[in-house]
Amino acid sequence: MSKNTRLVAAQTLVRVLDGGQSLTSALEHTLSTLENPQEKAFVQAVCYGVCRYYHRLQFLLFQLLDKPIKDVEIYALALVGLYQLAFMRVKTHAAVSETVDATRKKSWAKNLINALLRRYLREQEQLETLANSNPVALYSHPKWLISRIENDWGENAPHIFQAANEPPPMVLRVNALQTTREKYLQQLAELEIEAQAVETCPSAIRLLKPVGVTTLPNFDTGMVSVQDTAAQFAAGLLELNAGQRVLDLCAAPAGKTAHILESQPDVECVAVDIDATRMVRVETNLKRLNLSAQLIVGDATQPESWWDGKQFDRILVDAPCSALGVIRRHPDIKLLRRADDLTALPALQAQILNAAWSMLKEGGLLVYATCSILKAENEDQIAEFLATTPNAQEIPFEKNPAKHGWQILTGENGCDGFYYARLQKISISA
Ligand SMILES: C[S@@+](CC[C@H](N)C(=O)[O-])C[C@H]1O[C@@H](n2cnc3c(N)ncnc32)[C@H](O)[C@@H]1O
Repeated sequence: MSKNTRLVAAQTLVRVLDGGQSLTSALEHTLSTLENPQEKAFVQAVCYGVCRYYHRLQFLLFQLLDKPIKDVEIYALALVGLYQLAFMRVKTHAAVSETVDATRKKSWAKNLINALLRRYLREQEQLETLANSNPVALYSHPKWLISRIENDWGENAPHIFQAANEPPPMVLRVNALQTTREKYLQQLAELEIEAQAVETCPSAIRLLKPVGVTTLPNFDTGMVSVQDTAAQFAAGLLELNAGQRVLDLCAAPAGKTAHILESQPDVECVAVDIDATRMVRVETNLKRLNLSAQLIVGDATQPESWWDGKQFDRILVDAPCSALGVIRRHPDIKLLRRADDLTALPALQAQILNAAWSMLKEGGLLVYATCSILKAENEDQIAEFLATTPNAQEIPFEKNPAKHGWQILTGENGCDGFYYARLQKISISA
């Protein structure tokens, strides 16, 4: 018997809203319980949509209620109902009746959901106009996050909010050890999967519509991986050469480790991450690509507990960060992250950066990366590091000579929000 997909979506959202689970893991569980591909696609679209527009939907719901809904499943169901009416091209009648049915035996909720969805339909225009006059609803971001981003990016902030609410493109990284981008584009064309080469990045292909990875030719044998364009800049920035010793610090799940090895297989690559569970994913990912690295579960702030003392020619620090640059891929970040969560990050990043520096050879190059758009994690972090590290010299980016590093804002050239800085270790005795 087919399930009520509105109820399934609401129950998935409860795991995020009430259980603090990530949408990725909540959905993984849900999708494994559904068989019908259309139902899976619908539930996924609704859950992502509700998270993307959570703050707007919450505002609308608030206008429609006399008192808050305490039952979290019914609250989630109300959001699911409003999302369908406000954002999806579904038949209004079916959306209302299926959502009302999803209240099951709670008769009080049946009446409530029915009444509020019908009132929304009657007053849609006024309600949407009202929502547009409130920044939290207009941008669909929490208030604290709007302030943080406005503080750093001023008049650019609305573009960032808008880009963060748009579904991201699916981007592939072609494995240079197995094929060329041109040949792979041809393979995609043969299967009528529409795709384009990304001009700014030699390994990247953007699909015009996302597809399941199992439909990608030779995915199983590692010919391509899924990785945003912005993340694909890391390997090139490391200026890898054969024979180098390379450290990938904070490596899991190995997107960039793999790209390092695909770009220059003749390096000795050490990949370190503190999280043993995520390290298992590193193993799986490298195995699919037929690549190998020395894997270490270790704390980047305490290299003395795992490092053999041999310095590295190249180090990538893909630091733990707020991930505010990838909200478009993980919209639940807006629901789960609190302002306080960000307070300790710059200090941890500085600690990791300093520890990494001690492992870099003189003349060696360190690339610092985050998927954040906050200055505290990025250019301020690097400014502070340069001010306190006499043997560090920045290699500036042509596109950004006046500032520290290269900040890619969310949506810029179709990319996730990302930050890179290149730091060279110089001799100070000269
Ligand atoms: C941005 S993710 C890395 C993504 C990865 N580089 C890739 O491209 O697939 C940051 C990683 O830092 C790890 N991490 C956090 N604190 C750490 C620490 N003190 N030492 C080592 N790794 C840490 C997390 O477990 C997480 O896997």
